[in-house]
Amino acid sequence: MSNYKTSEQYGHALSHIHDSGFAGVAEAAADMLISTLKASGLTHGRVTDLGCGSGILARKLLDQGYAVEGVDQSVAMLALAQSRAPEAVFRHESLLECEIAPSIAVCTIGECFNYLFDRNNDEAALDRVLHRVHQSLEVGGIFLFDIATPDRIIKAPPKQFFQTQNWTTLVENIHSETPLMMTRKISSFVRAGEYYERVDETHHLRLINPNMLAHRMTTLGFEFEMFDCYGPTPLPAGCIGFCAYKRNIPEPG
Ligand SMILES: C[S@@+](CC[C@H](N)C(=O)[O-])C[C@H]1O[C@@H](n2cnc3c(N)ncnc32)[C@H](O)[C@@H]1O
Repeated sequence: MSNYKTSEQYGHALSHIHDSGFAGVAEAAADMLISTLKASGLTHGRVTDLGCGSGILARKLLDQGYAVEGVDQSVAMLALAQSRAPEAVFRHESLLECEIAPSIAVCTIGECFNYLFDRNNDEAALDRVLHRVHQSLEVGGIFLFDIATPDRIIKAPPKQFFQTQNWTTLVENIHSETPLMMTRKISSFVRAGEYYERVDETHHLRLINPNMLAHRMTTLGFEFEMFDCYGPTPLPAGCIGFCAYKRNIPEPG
C-alpha cells in the first residue's frame, strides 16, 4: 500500500504551497483593483472575492479601508484567509451558488471560474454567476477576473516543477478536446521534520472561450477591457483577464 495521500482540492498542504509560492497574481490583481477603484472614485464599500483562497487580496483591500467578503470551497484556504484577514467575512460555499451582497467590486482571481470542484460548473452555471455579479454591483462598480482559455492547451508546458526549501511540487498538465478540459495532476513533497510527506491532488478545469464570454458580458451590460497581465505581473500562459464596469443603462421610457 502506498504511504502518500490524496486530499480534498486545495487541502492543507496545497493551500500552504499556493499561499507561500503563488501569491504574486493575487497581489498584483489586488493592486490593479485598488488603483481602478480609486480612479473611479470608489474609496470605500464592500468588495466580494469569489474564490478568495488564502485572503491575499482581502488583506490588501482591508488595508486600504474597503470591507471584504470572501467565498471559497476549501476549508484550509479559508483558515489561512481568516488568520491573515480577520476583519473580513469569509464563507465556505461554492462561488457558483453563493449569494453576492451589494458590492462596489467583485473579483475572481486565479482561474476560479474554470475549476470543476463544483461538478455543476458548466456554461449555464457560469452564466448565472455573471448575472448575479452584475445584479450585485452598483452602477460603475468593477468586476475583475481571469479565466483559463483553450489556448492553455497550446501554451501550458506539459510538465512543470517548483521548488522551495520546504516543498517541491510537480505538475503534469493533461488536455482533453471533448469536453475541452485541462487536468492538472499535482504531486507535492512537503518537509515534515527530517522527512518529506507526499500529497497528491488532481484538478480538472473547464476551459472557457473568451470570445463567447466577452459576448455574454456585453449582453449583460458590462463594458470591459481584456488583458494578459495584472500590471507588471503576467497571467499564466493561455489565461485572459477582464476588467469590467457595470454600465449605466437608462430606465426604459
Ligand atoms: C488558484 S486558487 C486562487 C485563490 C485566490 N483567488 C488567489 O488568487 O490567491 C483557486 C481558488 O478557487 C477556489 N475555488 C475553485 N472553485 C470554487 C468554487 N466552485 N467555489 C468556491 N471556491 C472555488 C479554490 O478553492 C481556490 O482557493
